[in-house]
Amino acid sequence: MPAQRVLTGITTTGTLHLGNYVGALRPCIVASRESNVESFFFMADYHALIKCDEPDRIEASRLQIAATWIAAGLDTDKATFYRQSDIPEIPELTWLLTCVTSKGQMNRAHAYKGAVDANVAAGEDADAGITMGLYSYPILMAADILMFNAHRVPVGKDQVQHIEMARDVAQRFNHLFGRGQDFFVLPEAQVDAEMELLPGLDGRKMSKSYDNVIPLFEGGEKALREAIARIVTDSKLPGEPKDPEGQALVTIFDAFATPAQRAAFRAELHAGLSWGEAKQRLFDLINAEIGPMRARYDALMAHPERIEQILQEGATKARAIAAPLLARLREAVGLRRFQPLKAAAAPVAKAKVALPVFKQYREADGQFYFKLSTHDGRVLLQSQAFAGGRDAGEWVKKLKTAGAAALAGAPVALGEGVADAEVADALAALFAAEQA
Ligand code: TRP
Repeated sequence: MPAQRVLTGITTTGTLHLGNYVGALRPCIVASRESNVESFFFMADYHALIKCDEPDRIEASRLQIAATWIAAGLDTDKATFYRQSDIPEIPELTWLLTCVTSKGQMNRAHAYKGAVDANVAAGEDADAGITMGLYSYPILMAADILMFNAHRVPVGKDQVQHIEMARDVAQRFNHLFGRGQDFFVLPEAQVDAEMELLPGLDGRKMSKSYDNVIPLFEGGEKALREAIARIVTDSKLPGEPKDPEGQALVTIFDAFATPAQRAAFRAELHAGLSWGEAKQRLFDLINAEIGPMRARYDALMAHPERIEQILQEGATKARAIAAPLLARLREAVGLRRFQPLKAAAAPVAKAKVALPVFKQYREADGQFYFKLSTHDGRVLLQSQAFAGGRDAGEWVKKLKTAGAAALAGAPVALGEGVADAEVADALAALFAAEQA
């Protein structure tokens, strides 16, 4: 079996906390040790520019996050580890993809829509303060993923839509320019329970935006101890039996404990262990794992040139993959080295392909419906009933412009024996025909 490619990036706008470590870094590093896996991990520093206009913060964050990956045990000889901005093929691919991405689909990206909704709610112009960077964010992300033909992309739930968009763009590009061969693998989002699991000090998901984080290395042991002291518990006194269920402190403990340690900790709490001592146990447990990493982190931060060297090597490895693919893509779209033009015979007529069709109709029940069929009448999608013809029309439009990405929420059923992939292909073909 060919190796599975796994790829993920972290936006470099801050430092990492314990939740990032447990949810992303640690599982990615563990998975990267498997023999049949090729890992691509990178600092998404072009993405950082979308959210942050403080150069010093960008500089610090990309160094700190790089040091964190290495200190946490990433084998940078086995994995390909790089800065996005060291790979000029990525922005170039972004442009090629931008040219086959429908604006309608970008209008529906959560991050952009969220910003628009907030503007409207505040009585502002819908696009106030929204840059083209934010708007095109998903296309840059698609380029990150497609550039290396990643099969799997470990991400949090909030990023799943972006992976779907990447699939869609890939499909469209393959369809438009592939001439029977596929340039891009269609990536799958991998959302592990772990990605979302760690609660913060107040029991909500650990997140900078809730101000409830436990820092990973920042501030050293002292900051770790202080953060743990602030974890919210119930107000049971020392000696009183405590219920471990639903306690953030216990969930965080579990993320670092063996099954035996988990059981022992619960037993102690039931037996009346004080919260103060429980916090000491938690500190010791976490620090046993991350203490040695922190030492490596501090050593690395004192020698940025070592990290620079590792990343230069990573960029070389990454570009050895990116450059040949990009060369093929340039060729495919017509950005070719000059040569005598092919015989000016009849302009190459676009092969006529029999396109699938959308049909909207009204049934005897007075309701409105639509379906998507192949040119020879096989039903690929059948809609539910709509009270108004307009609603049916809206969905047809959505499916035509957003392609397979719109399928998830669409009130439609697949035709008999029809697979998702066939529908996605049909939608891509329709879209491509419309662009031509
Ligand atoms: N958008 C991702 C986030 O905010 C970061 C990211 C950028 C990424 N490019 C990527 C993640 C490619 C996975 C694959 O979390």
